[in-house]
Amino acid sequence: MTTETALTIADLHLLAEAGGLAPSLHNSQPWRFRPTSDRLGLEVHADLSRAVQAADPDLRALHISIGAALFNLRVAAARLGREAAVRLLPSGEGAQPCAVLDLSTQARTRQPFGADLYPAIAGRHSSRQPFTNRDVPEALIADLISAGRDEGVTLTVLEEDGVRRVLALTSEAEAAMAADVTREAETRRWLRLEPSYDGIPLAALGSHDRDARVPMRGFAGHPPRHATPAERFEALPQLATLTTHLDGQADWLRTGQAMERVWLLATDHGLRASVLHQAVEIPDTRWRLRDTDEGPGYVQLVLRLGYGPPGVASPRRRVEDILDPSEE
Ligand SMILES: Cc1cc2nc3c(=O)[nH]c(=O)nc-3n(C[C@H](O)[C@H](O)[C@H](O)COP(=O)(O)O)c2cc1C
Repeated sequence: MTTETALTIADLHLLAEAGGLAPSLHNSQPWRFRPTSDRLGLEVHADLSRAVQAADPDLRALHISIGAALFNLRVAAARLGREAAVRLLPSGEGAQPCAVLDLSTQARTRQPFGADLYPAIAGRHSSRQPFTNRDVPEALIADLISAGRDEGVTLTVLEEDGVRRVLALTSEAEAAMAADVTREAETRRWLRLEPSYDGIPLAALGSHDRDARVPMRGFAGHPPRHATPAERFEALPQLATLTTHLDGQADWLRTGQAMERVWLLATDHGLRASVLHQAVEIPDTRWRLRDTDEGPGYVQLVLRLGYGPPGVASPRRRVEDILDPSEE
């Protein structure tokens, strides 16, 4: 049923707050939200001034981050009792939005994603601390796969040899990045704004070992506030990849929505996650991440899943800084 009720300031605030809590590369938060002129919808814009240029020259991670914000907006719309019809406009540049949400229809259900994922938006954090060795139950894995599929993205939970391959490529990418002065400087610049990242050094985690240890981002010269000994990390992390058939802006926006949908569902079930993005950032290691048995596809993201500490809330831009005032 169509509702002619325009979004109130409080509605817009709730939407923008939810969108702003999405995960993003280096917590760059590269988004802006703008009410449509009839105030029955919301435009989602890229904030290109917040692109992470050396690590993400083609803006792939920027669009994944915006996709994650978009999924949070869809969940928040359900909380407001509105259906969110999404139109992706992937060539959005300058004043063009990346996506427009039509929120003019009353929701048929308050739980369009099976569960009410709204509380998980604020409860989700990157958890970079050690996980236990407890396995993720098969039934939950099946639900996560189906959540990804509903967004048009393939989630593959890796077997042991796949995990070892991805960790080796992650370490290789990490080493290449450490030798890249421009990139290191850029990362350090962003991390100054991101205290929760913690700069756990690769060496402290023993990721150059042959065994499967978790290579978190290593930031040489950025002293860890509380370094975590390698041996406390799970022996064999549970990793999953998100892949798409094509590799354009629409695929990246879809990946972001799938990542966030999977992450919120995981959070709702007490499962923690973090992103291992290093190998995806370098074309050569990204290419070798593909599982050729699975057929052609582009790996967009590697997620580490498991049970452990929830992670800590990281800072966010103020709603006033990401929500454009509506024209009244
Ligand atoms: C595309 C993308 C790449 C990311 N890469 C990494 C990574 O390589 N290592 C990591 O620890 N976190 C990574 N993150 C997680 C962000 O650092 C995190 O979302 C951000 O700092 C906000 O923190 P939060 O997830 O706890 O809200 C990535 C997130 C996105 C969306």
